[in-house]
Amino acid sequence: MAPLLARLRVGILGSGSGTNAHALCVNAERDTCAYSVEAVISTSAKAGICNVARRSGVALVILPEGLSREALGEEIVRAIDEFQVEALALAGFMRLLPDKVIHRLEGRVLNIHPALLPDFGGKGMFGLHVHRSVLAAGVLETGATVHIVTDQYDEGAILGQKRLLVCPSVDPEDLQRRMKVVENELYPGVMEQFARSIHAKLPLSTQASF
Ligand code: GRF
Repeated sequence: MAPLLARLRVGILGSGSGTNAHALCVNAERDTCAYSVEAVISTSAKAGICNVARRSGVALVILPEGLSREALGEEIVRAIDEFQVEALALAGFMRLLPDKVIHRLEGRVLNIHPALLPDFGGKGMFGLHVHRSVLAAGVLETGATVHIVTDQYDEGAILGQKRLLVCPSVDPEDLQRRMKVVENELYPGVMEQFARSIHAKLPLSTQASF
C-alpha cells in the first residue's frame, strides 16, 4: 500500500500499564501506517505508558496528579496544541474526559474497553471489575471494543470489536491477560482504519470486525 502524504497525528492519553500504547507505537513505525504517535500524555509519573514513550522515542508529557476536571482539560488541550495532535487514543484513562478536550477533538478521541460494549460498560467498569462481571454473568464470549469517546463512560459509536471465547475454568486475572492480547491486536488496526477514514474524508465505518 502506498504511503500516505500526511499521517494523522495521534496522542496517547492515560495512565495505563502501557500494552496498548506499545502496540499503537509499534504499528506507527511501519512506513505505510496512516497515523503517527506524536506524544504520550500521562496522568501519572508512575504509569507504564511513560516507559513506552521513552523506549519509543515519543515525546512524553506528565500531567500533575489531583487536578480538577477543568484544570485537567486545560493541561490536555495545552499538550494537544503543543504537539499538533489531531486525534487521541485513550489507554487506561480513568476519568471522564473533560468537555474541553472532547470539543477540541470532536469525534476524534478513541478508547478501548475490555468487553463487548454496550455490555459490561459504564461507571466503575474498569480493569478486573469488568472481567469479574463477565464471568459472573456466565457469558460464553467476551471481547474488546474500540469506540469514540463522549462525555459519558463507554458510550459513543463503536468502531471495532474483537471477540474472545470464555473458557469455563478461567479466572478474572487470566481473562484480563488474554484480553490484553486481543486489545493489543484490535487497537492499532482500528486506529489505522480511523486515520484512513479521516484522510479520505469518509464517513466512519462502525462495527468493523477484526
Ligand atoms: C485496558 O485494559 C483498556 O481496555 C482499558 O485500560 C487498560 C489499559 O491497559 N481502557 P494497558 O495500559 O494498555 O495495558
